[in-house]
Amino acid sequence: MSEEKRIYLSPPWVGEEEKALIEKAFESGYVAPCGPMVDAFDKKLSSIAKQHAVAVSSGTAALDLLMQELNVGRGDVVIASSLTFIATVGPAFHRGAKIVFVDTDEKTGVISLPLLEEALRKYPNAKCVIPADIYGQCSPYESLESICNERNVPLIIDAAESVGAFSNGRPSGLGGFASVYSFNGNKIITTSGGGAVLSRDEGVVSRAKWRAQQARENALWYEHREVGFNYRMSNLLGALGCAQVDRLPEILRRKKSIFDFYSRELSDVTIYPCERESESSHWLSVFLYENQLKRDEAIKKLSDANIESRPVWKPLHLQDAFRGCDVFGGDVSKKLFENGLCLPSGAGLELGDLERIVETLS
Ligand SMILES: Cc1ncc(COP(=O)(O)O)c(C=O)c1O
Repeated sequence: MSEEKRIYLSPPWVGEEEKALIEKAFESGYVAPCGPMVDAFDKKLSSIAKQHAVAVSSGTAALDLLMQELNVGRGDVVIASSLTFIATVGPAFHRGAKIVFVDTDEKTGVISLPLLEEALRKYPNAKCVIPADIYGQCSPYESLESICNERNVPLIIDAAESVGAFSNGRPSGLGGFASVYSFNGNKIITTSGGGAVLSRDEGVVSRAKWRAQQARENALWYEHREVGFNYRMSNLLGALGCAQVDRLPEILRRKKSIFDFYSRELSDVTIYPCERESESSHWLSVFLYENQLKRDEAIKKLSDANIESRPVWKPLHLQDAFRGCDVFGGDVSKKLFENGLCLPSGAGLELGDLERIVETLS
């Protein structure tokens, strides 16, 4: 293993601004899951996403709150992307829902619309559809809305990976019934751990906020007519989030230049996805190799040089945890998993780091 500095896949990019705001939050006395900084973070999110927003403890918690809102329960059908992180369907799975997977469109890299329509023909009473935006690339929100509206099935956009991107002019997550963001340590902006529920419907967001704070009624004592959750984001992390939102334009600029550098300098790879209906945030730069052998060789070379890289998501329909689940298509995401590689994409990467990565691969 090389002695050179380790290059990580997607480390957080934080600095003095984040430290200063956390200190300010600390000094305000609101060292709690409520306070002015987390309220300010809600407002900043709402302003970039052009809809209502509430910050919670993770993207997974945000999805769980939406499953509660839709009353997803045992035996309900939930249709979701297969090429995604497991959290897209985790909350529905834990409620006993029957998860049905839909493959990826080869060109755009996000959910296949014809296959989604096929899934909805078989499961017209699906409780909801959850497409996942992938690696900074938004799904086609308008087309998804018309497919779901026609059948009266709520659309929940998992925009955990697309903060800062646009779908045909719409900001990430602006569509359907509601959407979620993630601010995990590896995401485009981070609060170390965190997420958000977003919706054009104010009621959806205010109920999510209420449930995230134990669904407490307005009384002096603890009065409840519904059982809630403890999912609200801490005020300290809200401070971190505020500084990160201010940094977002610079992060996006850097992510794009990392992607452009790889696209220019790497040979023998295909840019993924090859067709973009949306303006990507380039959360992770992804490239496809001719075959799995070549991809695995690239991972080994990078690993020997102390550089982290990772195969594209293993599709959920191929995971043991979902053995027996229905899947529409499946070969496209399987091939992406075999041949696709995510390269280091942290906003803090310097030109020298990028040159080292490309030299290692050549
Ligand atoms: C597509 C997708 N959905 C959901 C999540 C879950 O978010 P969190 O880690 O904040 O719970 C993640 C990332 O972690 C993700 O990549």
